[in-house]
Amino acid sequence: MQQTDTQSVYSTVRKAVPDDVPGILTLLNHYAAQGDLLPRTRHDVEENLNHFRVISSGSEVVACGSLEHFTEELAEIRSLMVASNIKGGGLGRQIVENLISIAQHRKVGRVMALTYVPKFFHKLGFKTVNKDIFPEKVWGICVNCYKFHNCDEIAVLLTLKQQL
Ligand SMILES: CC(C)(COP(=O)(O)OP(=O)(O)OC[C@H]1O[C@@H](n2cnc3c(N)ncnc32)[C@H](O)[C@@H]1OP(=O)(O)O)[C@@H](O)C(=O)NCCC(=O)NCCS
Repeated sequence: MQQTDTQSVYSTVRKAVPDDVPGILTLLNHYAAQGDLLPRTRHDVEENLNHFRVISSGSEVVACGSLEHFTEELAEIRSLMVASNIKGGGLGRQIVENLISIAQHRKVGRVMALTYVPKFFHKLGFKTVNKDIFPEKVWGICVNCYKFHNCDEIAVLLTLKQQL
């Protein structure tokens, strides 16, 4: 556990467990309603739960994110969220750094995200790129998205090793 202020004690970043699903969905529904993130169903979250990492305060999920693979060499950070009352406290960075270390361990070459907050990702070493360089994403997932024909998200990419 770690103390981040005098009020609250947050867990370190840990793997999500089934009891975290309602908390993840609460964050997701909040930010999806604001248009910050794409909505996901409970089924989708449950199916991908092993990809999620969370930070909790007691039993409450206060931050989360997932690392989901397109291929062995390309993974995406998805559903990255911090509870709105503690944004700016470094938890988003902790989640992303943990996901990057997982990607490094798996020898993933590239980690990407589609986002409205590219400046946050730039702080963590990501560069803005053209989303057309991710046909796996565009034609595998985006094509089913309600924003497909009018997508205004920005693609960011972190390259972890040189491509051969
Ligand atoms: C984006 C989000 C995950 C960032 O988490 P956070 O805990 O608030 O951010 P951190 O405190 O870890 O910030 C890390 C760095 O990024 C910067 N940063 C954070 N949010 C930023 C923003 N919106 N714009 C520019 N810089 C930002 C911080 O100032 C900090 O910089 P520093 O290292 O120089 O001090 C969080 O604000 C959030 O949940 N937003 C709503 C959902 C969302 O948009 N998710 C992203 C989907 S891809």
